[in-house]
Amino acid sequence: MNTEPTLPFLRACLRLPVSQTPMWIMRQAGRYLPEYRATRAQAGSFLQLCRNPELATEVTMQPLRRYGLDAAILFSDILVVAEAMGIKLSFNEGEGPQLEPRINSHNDVLALHPAEPEDELGYVLATVRTIRKELDGRIPLIGFAGSPWTVATYMVEGGSSKTFSRIKGMMFDAPLVLQELLDRLADVTAAYLNAQIRHGAQAVQIFDTWGGVLSPRDFRAFSLRAMIRIMEQLDKTTPQGEQVPVILFAKGCGPLLEEVAATGCQVVGLDWTTDLARARERVAGRVALQGNMDPAILYASEARIRQEVEEVLTAYGPHAGHIFNLGHGIAQDVDPARVSILVDAVRQVSRRILSQ
Ligand code: CP3
Repeated sequence: MNTEPTLPFLRACLRLPVSQTPMWIMRQAGRYLPEYRATRAQAGSFLQLCRNPELATEVTMQPLRRYGLDAAILFSDILVVAEAMGIKLSFNEGEGPQLEPRINSHNDVLALHPAEPEDELGYVLATVRTIRKELDGRIPLIGFAGSPWTVATYMVEGGSSKTFSRIKGMMFDAPLVLQELLDRLADVTAAYLNAQIRHGAQAVQIFDTWGGVLSPRDFRAFSLRAMIRIMEQLDKTTPQGEQVPVILFAKGCGPLLEEVAATGCQVVGLDWTTDLARARERVAGRVALQGNMDPAILYASEARIRQEVEEVLTAYGPHAGHIFNLGHGIAQDVDPARVSILVDAVRQVSRRILSQ
């Protein structure tokens, strides 16, 4: 029953031809948009916004209305999985996330709640359904979760970290405790992504934001291994039988691109430190590629933004299997008008390149 998708984003994920390069932007719904800040104020806080399906749907739609992007991404956060496992989560203005209690020991791991996504994360699944209704089949919806390693960094550090001293201490001195935590996170995350797919997600992205702080050996043993464990449990199709592409975004892992591409995912998300032309040769048609413009280009002039779009799209060339995106999330101090320039440039340049 696997008929070819018609929506350009889904086609590009499966390396089918398109007439212009589909694009979306990581963190496209966020603080750089005044309408987002207004809706967040209405909700009361970021987490209350995440827990309110109507308002979360509203902020999901905001960047689509402004820019006419090719994919919507579920509005939520990777850390709601830790919360579902019994960790207290809070976001304090200007401080980033705080998680309590921190995971220190084997007993802490054993005490984690074996979350059932349909229960503890039912509000996210309600948002998935509400967004799908609002999108009405015009634009595809991407669901997401954090990689076990990336979510574990927040659970073990108790929040954001620059040094990763606690989780690396655990990795080196108590590797089996960390593996147990990663396995539990992988199993809950797989169930969570499958639930998102059942409720309407048409593609899913796994964010491995912190895989790049590991040595290649540790990346394989701790991050990649847990992502493969998820991959093995994922439903590959929607209840209607359409293929659900899996996007693996492993920031800072360009040197291990071939191994990331061999996990069974359909798309690899690249940050801007990886050469896109070479990356395409290295994956040799096994996966599509998503990315990879430096998000900081949005601080530059219109002419410079247009030039950079030309560089990125030329690097990939007139081949199937490219989704345009930034190499990481859009920053909160970006002028929304620069994003309009970016979208216009991607439309124009990609149509020219793909008609060659
Ligand atoms: O538009 C989208 O991309 C969808 C929503 C989304 C958010 N977070 C909303 C959010 C997605 C996909 C994420 C993923 C996420 N969350 C990641 C992986 C991607 C990445 O950026 O590396 C990580 C590491 C997190 C954890 C997280 N969430 C942190 C560290 C922070 C605080 C730092 C910050 O940017 O303020 C958040 C908060 C967060 N998640 C915001 C949004 C819109 C800002 C909250 C606010 O409105 O105040």
